[in-house]
Amino acid sequence: MTQATPLLSLRLSVDYPDKPSVLRNLSLEMYHGETLGLIGQSGSGKSTLALAILRLLHLHRGEPRGEIWFQGRNLVDRSEREMRSVRGRELGLVLQSPLSALNPALRIDTQLEEAWRAHAEGSRDAARKTILETMSSVSLPAERSFLRRYPSQLSVGQAQRVLIALAILHRPALLIADEPTSALDVITQSEILQLFQRLNREFGIAILYISHDLLSVASLCHRIAILYDGEIVECAPPSQIFGAPQHSYTQKLVAALPRGPFLDFHNDKLGSPASIADEDECAERSAKLSPR
Ligand SMILES: Nc1ncnc2c1ncn2[C@@H]1O[C@H](COP(=O)(O)OP(=O)(O)OP(=O)(O)O)[C@@H](O)[C@H]1O
Ligand SMILES: [Mg+2]
Repeated sequence: MTQATPLLSLRLSVDYPDKPSVLRNLSLEMYHGETLGLIGQSGSGKSTLALAILRLLHLHRGEPRGEIWFQGRNLVDRSEREMRSVRGRELGLVLQSPLSALNPALRIDTQLEEAWRAHAEGSRDAARKTILETMSSVSLPAERSFLRRYPSQLSVGQAQRVLIALAILHRPALLIADEPTSALDVITQSEILQLFQRLNREFGIAILYISHDLLSVASLCHRIAILYDGEIVECAPPSQIFGAPQHSYTQKLVAALPRGPFLDFHNDKLGSPASIADEDECAERSAKLSPR
């Protein structure tokens, strides 16, 4: 597979029994190592799209139609057994509420070990080695006393890092993060965003980052896709989304952002906070990643 072959390429419609056409022939492509932000208002179908990629829509009685090409094969044709081997190994998922996503009855090390054994064979030492390395990668203490904790003994930010550790244990090609910071305070939000950025750079993991928050998406992502009325109406690097938004909904979103010392749209550039200082580099990488 060449660098220019998309990691993910989909064309998708989704109906729910009492809510047809939530997604309408939506088309989206992601490239290896790319971070793509997905922005859309509440109820626009962002989580529906994430569930469809993971082939979990049936649990919500959603009916997908179309194609989801991932790493060279169409996930729509895969059996549930094959999908179980894809989820957690090639496709990772991080959700919004870390404490409810973790099993409250199991210690962290047990949950990490079970996740490791779901897709790997080897000794306990091999599992332990990967778990300790992954704990360091997400900046959690790689110490026995920490690993023996239950989820209730973690802060929400620590629980979110444990969930991220679970999702990257097998170094997936694509991580889907569905509003992963909305339960966190602003400082922890910014730390988790930086963590996603580091994981993308260090391991080359592509990230589909779903959010309402245009600014945090701009700080992380090479491109931003705008979901509106069941379709992707615009997909471009942050500089274009902020500097020259094309679609009227994107224009409204950008116009609704608070103006102030940190935002300077006049120079087609985001301003000074450290977390969004790499915006030029994002646009450059995006230009290299996406064939025009
Ligand atoms: N199981 C379901 N049955 C019927 N309709 C559903 C179901 N799940 C979601 N929907 C509807 O589909 C639409 C898209 O929902 P979805 O959860 O994907 O939106 P979202 O963009 O993730 O919203 P939010 O930002 O609030 O998380 C909404 O109108 C929602 O009410
Ligand atoms: Mg959602």
